[in-house]
Amino acid sequence: MQRLLTLVTLALAAAGPDIHAADYDAQVTASRETVQEFMQTLKKELQAGMQEGGPVNAVSVCNLTAPAIASTYSARNGWEVGRTSLKVRNPVNAPDAWERSVLETFEARKRAGEDPAKMEYYEVVRQDGAGKLRYMKAIPTAGLCLACHGEQVDSITKTRLETLYPDDQALGYRVGDIRGAFTITQPLATTGK
Ligand code: HEC
Repeated sequence: MQRLLTLVTLALAAAGPDIHAADYDAQVTASRETVQEFMQTLKKELQAGMQEGGPVNAVSVCNLTAPAIASTYSARNGWEVGRTSLKVRNPVNAPDAWERSVLETFEARKRAGEDPAKMEYYEVVRQDGAGKLRYMKAIPTAGLCLACHGEQVDSITKTRLETLYPDDQALGYRVGDIRGAFTITQPLATTGK
């Protein structure tokens, strides 16, 4: 089930005169903080799961915990928080048109020499009739990720992945590749004046 977001991107200036730069900055900062927290929680859970029973065990961490964390953040703030990629493991995470174009830009920025660990992009868009701040942060592939996203995944883990994700595209990555991105959509704060 893909996220079906009808989306018309609009320039910041066109989104309305009630957008104040200060609100917008605060929302970008809040997005950054949420992504940091999401990343750290996930990494901790992943490392614990790997230690406990290897990658085949930790598959359930990504399978269950990652979406659970994402929905916790979404529920907390009324945001949409998730992870996406140009090559998804779970079709639920497939990018919409806006996300796809940002991911493609990230790839181009990487080719131009930029460090994926520092890449982010945000923009105010008009979506479902309202102004939204959309934020994405690239996720680089680390050594830890290769057990489940690399070129050589052990056969037990591979079988487990194939069972859960028959359309898995998220294999064959190398350290330093862009594995995907965190993505946040939040209602735009307005002053109400
Ligand atoms: C133990 C196996 C495992 C490890 C290790 C692992 N992943 Fe995953 N990854 C998964 C699974 C399973 C999913 C599908 C999650 C879901 O159903 O939403 C996934 C999904 C993702 C997604 C969401 C997009 C998609 O492909 O569906 C990203 C981004 C991602 N992983 C990045 C990473 C990064 C970065 C690392 C290393 C820090 C990592 N993963 C390590 C198993 C793993």
